[in-house]
Amino acid sequence: METITLAMAKGRTAQSTIELLKTVNIQFQDFHEKSRKLIFYNEDHTIKLLFVKAVDVPTYVEKGAADIGIAGKDNILESKADVYEMLDLQIGKCQFSIAGKNSEQFGQQQNIVVASKYPNLTERHFAKKGQTVDIVKLNGSVELAPLIGLADYIADIVETGTTLRENGLSVIEKVEDISTRLIVNKASFATKSAEIQDFIKKIDRAMR
Ligand code: PRP
Repeated sequence: METITLAMAKGRTAQSTIELLKTVNIQFQDFHEKSRKLIFYNEDHTIKLLFVKAVDVPTYVEKGAADIGIAGKDNILESKADVYEMLDLQIGKCQFSIAGKNSEQFGQQQNIVVASKYPNLTERHFAKKGQTVDIVKLNGSVELAPLIGLADYIADIVETGTTLRENGLSVIEKVEDISTRLIVNKASFATKSAEIQDFIKKIDRAMR
């Protein structure tokens, strides 16, 4: 049987993804989150797991370095990767939202400065609304930006709301529901059709 390469995101959804794979008897024996190893195999070596940064999963899949990817919808949209999105795995649920200190003038303001890890997603959202924005790209701790005058607002994912609350910010506008999705490389979907369909069917069945 041909090997499927699966790119999986490091970070907060890794453990839930591993648990989901376990329910369909896909186990990576020496895998543990703190390991510095980046490649793992399942028991019969039919699946090769690449453990990569969440933001990079869509790139691995689009370029064919992985046949299948398990990634957040936020990173899929941000990357604009040309891949098939096959399943919503219903894990890592959160919302892509606009947040700030003060919502009063938000709708009417032009030329606002918005800090985000997701410049493409942010630009698309404000362009749709016809609101001009200046985007400051950050790689983390974006909640700091409105507190120190680096930006007026942030565009970020909100899960429990704790980070916003602890920094005196609140959601002004919910933009998009986010969750973990299973994506597939377009060429692999044709060349490894049987293996990929089988993999997807197993997971889909386990989720029902
Ligand atoms: C994410 C996100 C928010 C936070 C939201 O950051 O960018 O900052 O989690 O989660 P909450 O609503 O449950 O507080 P992450 O933990 O990935 O760290 P980062 O700031 O370094 O990107």
